[in-house]
Amino acid sequence: MQLPDRPAPIPPETPRTGEETVERLIFASVVAQRQGIYATMETIRDAALRHNPSVGIHSTLIYQSGWFIHWAEGPRVAVRALADRLATDRRHRAPLVVHYSLGPRNLTSPWSMALGSSSEGAAEMGRRVMHLRACMAEGLQFRPTSVIRRLTMPMRLPQALRLPDPEKFHRVGLVAATGASAYDLVGWLSSYFKAERYSLRVAGERGLDTASDYVDFLRQELPCRVLAVSRVDLRHGMRRAFLPEWRFIALLFSGSINKDAELVDLIDFSLRGLPSAPQLMAFAPDEAALERVASHAAAKGLRFAVAEPWRERDHAALWARIDRELGEAGVPDSSGWYESRPDPTAP
Ligand SMILES: Cc1cc2nc3c(=O)[nH]c(=O)nc-3n(C[C@H](O)[C@H](O)[C@H](O)COP(=O)(O)O)c2cc1C
Repeated sequence: MQLPDRPAPIPPETPRTGEETVERLIFASVVAQRQGIYATMETIRDAALRHNPSVGIHSTLIYQSGWFIHWAEGPRVAVRALADRLATDRRHRAPLVVHYSLGPRNLTSPWSMALGSSSEGAAEMGRRVMHLRACMAEGLQFRPTSVIRRLTMPMRLPQALRLPDPEKFHRVGLVAATGASAYDLVGWLSSYFKAERYSLRVAGERGLDTASDYVDFLRQELPCRVLAVSRVDLRHGMRRAFLPEWRFIALLFSGSINKDAELVDLIDFSLRGLPSAPQLMAFAPDEAALERVASHAAAKGLRFAVAEPWRERDHAALWARIDRELGEAGVPDSSGWYESRPDPTAP
């Protein structure tokens, strides 16, 4: 695999004091043998867990539409050694670099992986890969999370694609303390907005097999994505890398003292150490449950921007409340940067 001589410089994100700077590499490759793909990924996971932790590499592997998308972060020497091993691995063909930069670590664990359930063909994914390669050739890079999203979970709404930056959309996460109410709300939104529902199956270092569903739609001219994730999903390195870009996480509490406390603990774990965190919304069956979770959260330094009672299955009311908050959230940030941005004031 041909790596550029040097990675793109640190993006214009404000570096935090003492933060480690690593090389961040993403490549896309065509899978040699699609049959038994999950078993293949498990074998790759075994190798990665043998090598990655001791050399400081954190990586994540996604299979979708006949392609592997592999994102690795770590010290220069280790990333280059891994790139050399990957170049001769016969489980894939012609790995193409789609992102290479220096910057803070995004991935918080040595391994995570996901299987996308998209029905599109390999050629369509190939077009997106080539588009990213063309952007790189012009010196335009996107955040690693944005590259992964553009390849595996692209915003497909035609209205969004006509906007100057189709990645500028709000993301709202949903997670429930028990049951499937987060997934139910995504299902409801999908019928309400007549929008397709997508799914991604995610696994971590061992076990942790779970699915995450999402739906895209336009709210007042601006695209929006709502994602339901499971409690387990919040532990994955890959999922946590995306959390800083979510505008809100709506926590759907159940009224069960233990389960609700577990969800607060989990959110505390998943947001800890991230460069920025989404605003938290708490919904619970009654005021007593809300007070309980608010004080448990406060003890951990977490604050709820919204805390309101909610009746399970009243999806319309729940969405109306989230939607109101989104109305006040303004327009989201862009995800790209130029290695050497043309100076607009230059003659
Ligand atoms: C798409 C893809 C991603 C991989 N990711 C990693 C990785 O993150 N870490 C790793 O050590 N090996 C990874 N591998 C496997 C390596 O190519 C290589 O087979 C392995 O590191 C050799 O380990 P071994 O000598 O212990 O068998 C990956 C392979 C493929 C096809």
